[in-house]
Amino acid sequence: MAEIRVEDVHKRFVRQSLPIGQSAHRSRGGGAFHREYIVALDGVNLTIHDGEAVSIVGPSGCGKSTLLRIIAGLEEPDSGRVLYDGRDMANVPPKDRGIGMVFQNYALYPHWDAYDNLGFFFRLRKREKEIDQRVREAAEILGVDFKYLLSRKPPTLSGGEQQRVAVGRCVVRNPTLFLFDEPLSNLDAKLRSSTRVQIKRLLNRFRVTTVYVTHDQSEAVAMGDRIAIMRSGRIVQVGTFRDLYDHPVDTFVAGFLGMPPMNIIPGRVERGSFVHDALRIRLPDRLLRFVQEGQAIRLGIRPEHLGLKAEEAGASSGIVETVEHLPSNRTRIVHLQLGDVAITAQVPEDVPVGIGDHVALAPDMDWLYLFDGETERNLVPSDA
Ligand SMILES: Nc1ncnc2c1ncn2[C@@H]1O[C@H](COP(=O)(O)OP(=O)(O)OP(=O)(O)O)[C@@H](O)[C@H]1O
Ligand SMILES: [Mg+2]
Repeated sequence: MAEIRVEDVHKRFVRQSLPIGQSAHRSRGGGAFHREYIVALDGVNLTIHDGEAVSIVGPSGCGKSTLLRIIAGLEEPDSGRVLYDGRDMANVPPKDRGIGMVFQNYALYPHWDAYDNLGFFFRLRKREKEIDQRVREAAEILGVDFKYLLSRKPPTLSGGEQQRVAVGRCVVRNPTLFLFDEPLSNLDAKLRSSTRVQIKRLLNRFRVTTVYVTHDQSEAVAMGDRIAIMRSGRIVQVGTFRDLYDHPVDTFVAGFLGMPPMNIIPGRVERGSFVHDALRIRLPDRLLRFVQEGQAIRLGIRPEHLGLKAEEAGASSGIVETVEHLPSNRTRIVHLQLGDVAITAQVPEDVPVGIGDHVALAPDMDWLYLFDGETERNLVPSDA
C-alpha cells in the first residue's frame, strides 16, 4: 500500500523533423534538424491516497500516459518529484517500486501459456513455491472460467481473455500500486463492461492504490473513487464525479463530463438577464451577485435541467430538429435549434414534443451555470 504524490512535474519531448527538401544524409551531424519541443506535462500536482483509485481522463495527447509512465519510473521528469509514502523515487528503478502495470496492449509473453506468464515474476526471483497459491487466488478473483485460460498461449486467447491474464499477472505480484493505461480500449463494448467489473472487484478486494487512465468517462466514473481531468499537460480539476459534475471549474470540465454534454451558450448580462440575440433568461439573485452589467458570459444548462414549453413561432423560440428515445430511463433527448445555437434537452417521455415543434426553454433556475466569456472559468464559487 502506498500514498502517491506527484509534485509540480514538468516533462517535454523533443521532436526532430527534417525541413522539407533536406536529405537525411546531409543533416547527419546535427544542425539541419528542426527541433521542436512538445510540452507533455506542464506542472502536474496530484495526490493519490493510500488505497484510493484515481481515474485520469482527458483528450488524446493531453499527457495521461506520460504521467503514468513518470509515476512508474519508465520516464524521468524534467523537474518536479514523485513520492511514494513520502519517499522521493528519483533513483528507484521501476522494478523496485512494487508496481503492477496493465497497458492497452497487454504485452504477454506469446510463447508461454497463461500460467507461466503469471508465474514468471516468481521464477525470476527464485520463489517458484508461491506460484500455485498465488495463481489460484488470482483465478478466484478473476472469475470461474479464468483457470481454463491458464494452459493456453496468448495468441490463442481473445482480447478480453488476454487482458484478464495481464491483470492476473499484476495481481499475483501483490503490488503496492496498480497502474492501468486504457486497459480495456481494445475490447468490444460487452467485454469492456464485464472486464471492468472484474478489475473493479479486484480493486475493492485489495484496496491497492490505483491510477487508472482512460478517455471513456463512464469507465472513469466506474473505476475511480476520484477523477482527475487533464488538458494540455495540466490537471484541470480533481474530485469525486459529483464534485466535478455539480461544480465544474470551467467550461472544459463542464462539457467533458455528462452525456449529452452541458449546453454552453455565449451571451452577456443585460438588466438582470442573460441575453443571446432574442433569447433572454432572467438570472436568479444568487447568481447576479457574481456578474456585472454588460459582462460577456457563457450560460451553462445541463440537458436534464432544461424543460421545454410549447410556444408560438417567434425569434426567441427554438425549433425541434430530432428526438431520440431513451427507454431505459423513460426520457427523450431533444435536439433543437434556437437562432444560431444548437441546444439539447433531456425531457420525460410524456412531454409532447415532435420534430418541427416550436418550443421555449424552461431551465431549472437552481441549476444554471455561469462562466466567464473570456477565461471560461466558473464565476460562481462552489460554496455559493
Ligand atoms: N517519446 C515521445 N517522444 C516525443 N513526443 C512524445 C513522446 N511521448 C509522448 N509524446 C507527446 O507528448 C504528448 C502527450 O502524450 P501522451 O502519450 O502522454 O498523451 P495521452 O494523453 O496518453 O494521449 P492518448 O489518449 O492518445 O493515449 C503528445 O503530444 C505526444 O505526441
Ligand atoms: Mg495514452
